[in-house]
Amino acid sequence: MDKGLSEKEILNIISEKTKKDFTYDCGRILSSMCSKPHRLGIRIYTECIEKNMADPFLFPSCSYFEREVVEMLGELLSSRDPHGFMVSGGTEANIIAMWVALKERRISNPEVIAPKSAHFSMDKASSLLGFRLVKIDLNHNFQVDIGKVEGAVTEKTVALVGVAGSTGLGVVDPIPELADIAMENNLYLHVDAAFGGLVLPFMEELGYDAPDFDFKLPSVCSIAVDPHKVGLAPIPSGCILFRDQSYMEKTRFKLSYKTRETCFQNTVLGTRPCASVIATWAVLKHLGREGFRSIVSNCLELTRFLCSEMKKLRAVKLVTEPTMNIVGIETDVDVVEVAEQMRKRGWGLTLYDDYIRVVLMPHLSVETIKNFINDLETVIKNIERGVKDESFGKCQGQGRSC
Ligand SMILES: Cc1ncc(COP(=O)(O)O)c(C=O)c1O
Repeated sequence: MDKGLSEKEILNIISEKTKKDFTYDCGRILSSMCSKPHRLGIRIYTECIEKNMADPFLFPSCSYFEREVVEMLGELLSSRDPHGFMVSGGTEANIIAMWVALKERRISNPEVIAPKSAHFSMDKASSLLGFRLVKIDLNHNFQVDIGKVEGAVTEKTVALVGVAGSTGLGVVDPIPELADIAMENNLYLHVDAAFGGLVLPFMEELGYDAPDFDFKLPSVCSIAVDPHKVGLAPIPSGCILFRDQSYMEKTRFKLSYKTRETCFQNTVLGTRPCASVIATWAVLKHLGREGFRSIVSNCLELTRFLCSEMKKLRAVKLVTEPTMNIVGIETDVDVVEVAEQMRKRGWGLTLYDDYIRVVLMPHLSVETIKNFINDLETVIKNIERGVKDESFGKCQGQGRSC
């Protein structure tokens, strides 16, 4: 393309192409672990867009904000002396944790033990880093089967992984038991709390039953936690936290450019946004624990409401009682068909295994959930009676204008 397009032409194309995208404001996104970022986060992100974490010489403030975020999240997750850094999200955090674990114990043909419910970023880590991922069955509560974990430990095992808020159902593995196994066998223990890390601590403060999963347990070596999920920070905002400084040294690379002080990088990414780091800092500072308690409390109230309404419906059932704000819904009729018809009615839904996964995030309301339930009932009735749904296609693409 020799001659560029005018701004107006560009904006028109974008507006046309994004018409069918959902927006969080539309209130119909039930499938996402992310939400609309906090307005202050959006503002800061835009204002700081040019800052680069990889250039501490030009942008010395970046490391200050990163350090502060690590301290705030570390304190929340029971660390007295937090270490870590900001990354692009749970995927990068999990990859780095496995990178560190392998460096901790350099052996040939290493193995890592994780639950079958582990996020697929563990498969990416296995493929990138060359370890065998041993996937362990879940028990009737959808948690990793501890007996099977014990049975799977061999002289090749370098690490155990537990999930605190599984992607499908928000289930928390028995991390204290995993911590005991790690301690007895001298293994690295990583907790993937990408989702639960900013939910569970507030559940505890709100008086809900919240299982132990964090640095309170002495053999937890690292935790992944994503501010761009329930933390309302703009994407990309993830964080990997370590129990102590020695783990940080395992992925430390000296910058090749000449700077006054020697600078290092630990992340997979080189050039990386500082805008999301400062935006995360701003949202955490602005909301404080009180603000997050209120957000989590609302999400849990919505979860309770959805579950109690679901229990009144015929032909649907919950996969399990939710631990946090993620609900799995099974249907008596073909669930693929149900999800398809719900999508055609304008709902942003995903199927996870053989159930519909609903994530009760801050952009949702009781009103939305009532509408969802009404539509779900109608769709199921229509499928049972073989009736073609007249509203097909009507709501599709209402993203921006919903
Ligand atoms: C438990 C868990 N870990 C890791 C990830 C990956 O996070 P991201 O997509 O931010 O890389 C997810 C995403 O859904 C997740 O649910």
